[in-house]
Amino acid sequence: MDTSDPTPNGFFEQWRLLAGIAALLALACAALLTLSPDASGARMVIRFTARTSLVLFCLAFCASAMARLWPGPLTRWQRRNRRMLGLSFATSHLLHAGAIVLFAALDPGGFHQATNLVTYINGGIAYLFIIAMAATSFRQSAAWIGPRAWSILHTCGTYYLWISFLIAFGKRFMLGPVYPLAVALLVAALAIRLAAQLHVARAGQVQG
Ligand code: HEM
Repeated sequence: MDTSDPTPNGFFEQWRLLAGIAALLALACAALLTLSPDASGARMVIRFTARTSLVLFCLAFCASAMARLWPGPLTRWQRRNRRMLGLSFATSHLLHAGAIVLFAALDPGGFHQATNLVTYINGGIAYLFIIAMAATSFRQSAAWIGPRAWSILHTCGTYYLWISFLIAFGKRFMLGPVYPLAVALLVAALAIRLAAQLHVARAGQVQG
């Protein structure tokens, strides 16, 4: 882990950042459900949290790469807070899960139509990864599983989630401009990560 970032001194750092994002997300979901206190409100929350999850996931996914390619105060903030951005993504997806349960309870028929066995299996695996990654995002729990298992879990989980987002947004590609935009964001985040890896490999070659 790169520890070269200076000690955080701004307001939106670490736990305050996570608490702020979690509060905003909870408020927005509550507002949507107040406006539409029925299954359509639950569906709005599902869509809203899928999108906030995507943004938070991408911010965490390419945090180190951004700071490496474009070092500056903003990208250093992003890298310094990448664990909290990851936990914010997990919070957003917890709300996605809550809204899914609400939708299923309010409109079992509509829920059955909107999902299938593949949704349950792929979504279930994705949630297991999210829980395991969030649980091992702390120094003690990370030390408990060891650096090798941590690295395997977080690498596999991250790419599994990236693919899950790509499928979930990709299959709705023709439904409106937000879906191609989401796919473009995912592709851009991956390209940034790969470019940073190439950058490191080239720097290593030059030094060697
Ligand atoms: C068992 C787990 C899951 C279930 C049952 C589920 C269920 C649903 C349902 C019913 C919708 C459609 C809502 C509507 O159009 O009214 C939806 C949308 C979506 N879900 Fe989930 N989901 C699960 C897990 C996930 C995971 C793990 C991801 C991403 C990593 C994800 C990403 C999305 C996306 C991107 C949308 C589309 C949102 C939009 O239209 O903007 N879901 N989900």
